[in-house]
Amino acid sequence: MRDPESFRTEAVERLRAAVPGQALVAASGGIDSTAAAVLAKQALGPRARALFVDTGLLREGETDRVRRISEALKLDIEVVPAAETFFAALDGVTDPEEKRRRIGAAFIRLFEREAKQTAADRLVQGTIAPDWIESGGQLRDTIKTHHNVGGVPKDSTLTLVEPLRDLYKDEVRALAVHLGIPEAHRQPFPGPGLAVRVIGPVTEARVRSARRANAIVEEEVDRAVDAGTLARPWQYFAVLLPVRTVGVLGDNRVWGEAVSVRIVESIDAMTATAVAPPAELLRRIAERITRELSGTVPRVLYDVTDKPPATIEWE
Ligand code: XMP
Repeated sequence: MRDPESFRTEAVERLRAAVPGQALVAASGGIDSTAAAVLAKQALGPRARALFVDTGLLREGETDRVRRISEALKLDIEVVPAAETFFAALDGVTDPEEKRRRIGAAFIRLFEREAKQTAADRLVQGTIAPDWIESGGQLRDTIKTHHNVGGVPKDSTLTLVEPLRDLYKDEVRALAVHLGIPEAHRQPFPGPGLAVRVIGPVTEARVRSARRANAIVEEEVDRAVDAGTLARPWQYFAVLLPVRTVGVLGDNRVWGEAVSVRIVESIDAMTATAVAPPAELLRRIAERITRELSGTVPRVLYDVTDKPPATIEWE
């Protein structure tokens, strides 16, 4: 990307050429899709209808945040409640690639249904370069199928329009700042949401635990950043692991699952380094997770692996 303003002008022109009629915009509240939504609104005005799908797999407070962003940027984002659909689609699924395929398919089916209302035949998405590079195809190996790429069914009636396809995360951030998007430096969150942060089966109870653990990690990292003991890391989150591990609660042994905490530095998500956090931060995170998820999560681990060999997310 040469500079954000010339990218913006060209993207708006390309969007007008790519969308002759009505479009839907998939707005997740993340930086990528918000930037795509702003460009689509600038290019298409009322011909672009932005939808936020509440999958039930999102971070705490996400729907309210999206409403605030929508107001601030005048995006008129509509909230579509769909938790039941997504939990039903994921019922009994443990394979990470299958989770992404099911989530991608559920998104597309929902958008196809919504598209009928305005006779839209285009779907604008905030896909960025690492999404399709890591999703493989042709000569590349699949590292993981990003839900917004490999998860799109072949028979979909919607044609995808992806204005940010060639950008990397650092470039999207520069664009987002230029477009006036609030919290343009907010950490990334995977499109399949907490479904890929609960390893193994995706049940409502396990997702609830993962949601709280992720909120605790965010709150404690914020606190450490405010206190000056940690530079704002690139990404920081928690993953619920399907291991049966023992703990003590009062005088009793209790069985539960473990949570792994991951904090990484990166520039473009293609490589990443595990951060060595202050001991006090880890101690606070472990204390809060085991207390607030008492009886469910008796053990907290810290992931010290770089990317490569690991990826940033666990699955
Ligand atoms: P990985 O785990 O592949 O992640 O090293 C690189 C970056 O992408 C995010 N991520 C995803 N984002 N759909 C997305 O929109 C996905 O399926 C997905 N998987 C990973 C991850 O959080 C990291 O920032």
